[in-house]
Amino acid sequence: MARINDNFLKLKAGYLFPEIARRVNAFSEANPEANVIKLGIGDVTEPLPPAIAEAIHKAVDEMAERTTFRGYGPEQGYAFLREAIAENDYRSRGADVSADEIFISDGSKCDSGNILDIFGTDNTVAVTDPVYPVYVDTNVMAGRTGDADDAGRFAGLVYIPVTAENGFVPALPEQKVDLIYLCYPNNPTGTVASRETLKAWVDYAKANDSIILYDAAYEAFITDPEVAHSIYEIEGARDVAIEFRSFSKNAGFTGTRCAFTVVPKTLEGTMADGTKTAIHALWNRRHCTKFNGVSYPIQRGAEAAYSDAGREQIGGLINFYLENARLLREGLEAVGIEVYGGGNAPYVWLATPEGLSSWEFFDRLLEKGHLVGTPGSGFGAAGEGYFRLSAFNTRENINEAVKRFQQVVA
Ligand code: MLT
Repeated sequence: MARINDNFLKLKAGYLFPEIARRVNAFSEANPEANVIKLGIGDVTEPLPPAIAEAIHKAVDEMAERTTFRGYGPEQGYAFLREAIAENDYRSRGADVSADEIFISDGSKCDSGNILDIFGTDNTVAVTDPVYPVYVDTNVMAGRTGDADDAGRFAGLVYIPVTAENGFVPALPEQKVDLIYLCYPNNPTGTVASRETLKAWVDYAKANDSIILYDAAYEAFITDPEVAHSIYEIEGARDVAIEFRSFSKNAGFTGTRCAFTVVPKTLEGTMADGTKTAIHALWNRRHCTKFNGVSYPIQRGAEAAYSDAGREQIGGLINFYLENARLLREGLEAVGIEVYGGGNAPYVWLATPEGLSSWEFFDRLLEKGHLVGTPGSGFGAAGEGYFRLSAFNTRENINEAVKRFQQVVA
């Protein structure tokens, strides 16, 4: 008999975004005339920057010629891209990361789930609450939790609330935890962490032999010069942190797929006998066994993100989405909604009006305004009473969404 992984049965509902899509499709089928504006999933709407599209085209042409054709590439990614990342994303910011510590992949979502392969199931895991659901669900699938309670909290996970009450600053856990997920700029709250907060976490991880899984997929949206773009800008982080980065939200790669994970060679984990071993070698082994690399044309496209033209065009995209976030924020504040985030991130996080639950507000917005957002409770129990709007959309839709939002809550 083929036994299933029973841990999957602990995941009661569907994954958040498909669940939203299901509800929206049902609404649209029942109301075919409704022009629904979707500010739910954070998916980019602007096309690939021309410099990137051109690099991809050129690489496709190379693949079509006998003399320049390439088969399998290095599993870890081509040196040209790893070098460009090490130089532009790290060394230029004073962060000590070398090209061979960078692993190119097809997404931060995949990497942040896949990384669990190399960690034992008996680790204690901490997540902020609310949190990007992938961190929780992949730990559930891997058997690192018990069942969920009525609020959706899984036994065995350590939840660290980040709400308006604590200024969205996660307190250090009182107990010892082994793996800690941090995401900055934060999904879903759109808030950022100060260098002091990050330093406190790095020091905690050092003192407790823990590893921080740092998701920086939205770093390109940071406008505040005081905010760190990488955890490796914080002293000591090389010894305690893995960082996930992506080309999805800055360069528009949600459909083309390219990301990377940094595993410093100085990072160690503990073996069953208590001695230490390098995490880099384990991740390299895992990556080479289960992954055959991102396609050559897409890696050439990602490389073009660092060219002068690429940078300028990406800067334009970031400014465009941040302006959308500002319009959303100000439009909501004008009708008395409490709004957070959106200044250094493409997400605006708001407190639902009139004490409505997150899903009640979702239904009201959909039915009365034909607007879709993401219920805060879908990101965790402490997200109840909050709601997320994504700034990834056309300007026309954002302006129209603000109008409709104001009418719904007025
Ligand atoms: C989100 O909406 O939270 C993101 O689009 C999810 C993702 O990047 O996987």
